[in-house]
Amino acid sequence: MKLVVVGGGSTYTPELIDGFARLRDTLPIGELVLVDPAADRLDLVGGLARRIFAKQGHPGRITVTGELEPAVADADAVLLQLRVGGQAARNEDETWPLECGCVGQETTGAGGLAKALRTVPVVLDIAERVRRANPDAWIVDFTNPVGIVTRALLTHGHKAVGLCNVAIGFQRKFAALLGVAPERIALDHVGLNHLTWERGVRLDGREVLPQLLAEHAERIAADLHLPASLVRRLGVVPSYYLRYFYQHDQVVEELRAEGSRASAVAAIERELLEMYADPALEEKPALLEKRGGAYYSEAAVQLIAALLGGGAAAAGSEQVVNVANAGTLPFLPDDAVIEVPALVDARGAVPLPVAPVEPLYAGLIAHTTAYEALALEAAVLGGRDRVFAALLAHPLVGQLDLAERLTDQLIDHNRAHLAWA
Ligand code: G6P
Ligand code: MN
Repeated sequence: MKLVVVGGGSTYTPELIDGFARLRDTLPIGELVLVDPAADRLDLVGGLARRIFAKQGHPGRITVTGELEPAVADADAVLLQLRVGGQAARNEDETWPLECGCVGQETTGAGGLAKALRTVPVVLDIAERVRRANPDAWIVDFTNPVGIVTRALLTHGHKAVGLCNVAIGFQRKFAALLGVAPERIALDHVGLNHLTWERGVRLDGREVLPQLLAEHAERIAADLHLPASLVRRLGVVPSYYLRYFYQHDQVVEELRAEGSRASAVAAIERELLEMYADPALEEKPALLEKRGGAYYSEAAVQLIAALLGGGAAAAGSEQVVNVANAGTLPFLPDDAVIEVPALVDARGAVPLPVAPVEPLYAGLIAHTTAYEALALEAAVLGGRDRVFAALLAHPLVGQLDLAERLTDQLIDHNRAHLAWA
């Protein structure tokens, strides 16, 4: 089996490599290619990746390159984990919206729109080149904003599935609280990427969310930085991204007082790259845990193994992924991309039926889906009016003057990355 990681020079890559090494029985990788335009990072990350495989006795070969086409030509799956403009562009996304009193975040609100506008054209170009070189390869998208990027890939006919670690994070957390193996836990996870709720938690098929909340609401809510009273009242567990909605103004105040996440991440990355340069390092450093990527290697291994349809995964496995709605949530268009449990096998991911969604969640899901459709149009076609329309449609913006100001800011701060601006 051959895998390609686009954005392989990311400091996150050792997390992925560590998972590939540990889970080699589930995903037997013969060859792994890390593709990245940043040759210096690629060498550092590639070196450590090889040492991790060697230390763990993984027989797979790891190579690095700046050239996409030869790498993907005979690949089975291509993982996309790139960040257009790097942490510097993220820092902008997290900063200028705050000046207008709006949350500054890499995937949510106006900053998330900026990221979508920079990223979608680049990802579509890569996907097109992958398809020309190898129409059979699966594309697994980790690139944020995952919902919009996956929608772009699917509406352009690519063989793609979107993936995020929020659901697997909850599965692991709930399993730990219950003292059981994670594989025994299934989630009734519903919504859009970074806009989800856990409405049910099944242990061996039996509903245990009420029990979990009765015993652990404080602990669960504390990790989300949300009040335990909210989690108890809803009887469901929102993802921590819902805090940007439920406590928007409070978060804006907090973010104004703190440094940006991008600057914290940039400092962690500098330190990580120094560590990766040490030839004695043969495992992923603990410092990587300060990044938000926990369990993403497990999620990737599980998804790719099922998509490539080998062994136990051939029968299909239930996994939370980003997939075309296709009638699953009847209040959304078929081509919307939703994040729900799906049955995954060699034919792809097919969403499992979802119980009717309560208005409290359905309203925000529908509103944000409309924004995502307009964001995708703006990303593909460009133009100030389309950016403005997406912002006017966003549930966290919505007002005329605000949308005008944010539109100007977004374009000003992203000219270098927007072909049409
Ligand atoms: C979580 C999210 C990812 C996001 C990451 C940010 O893993 O699911 O989509 O990219 O957090 O982590 P960072 O360390 O970059 O702030
Ligand atoms: Mn995510």
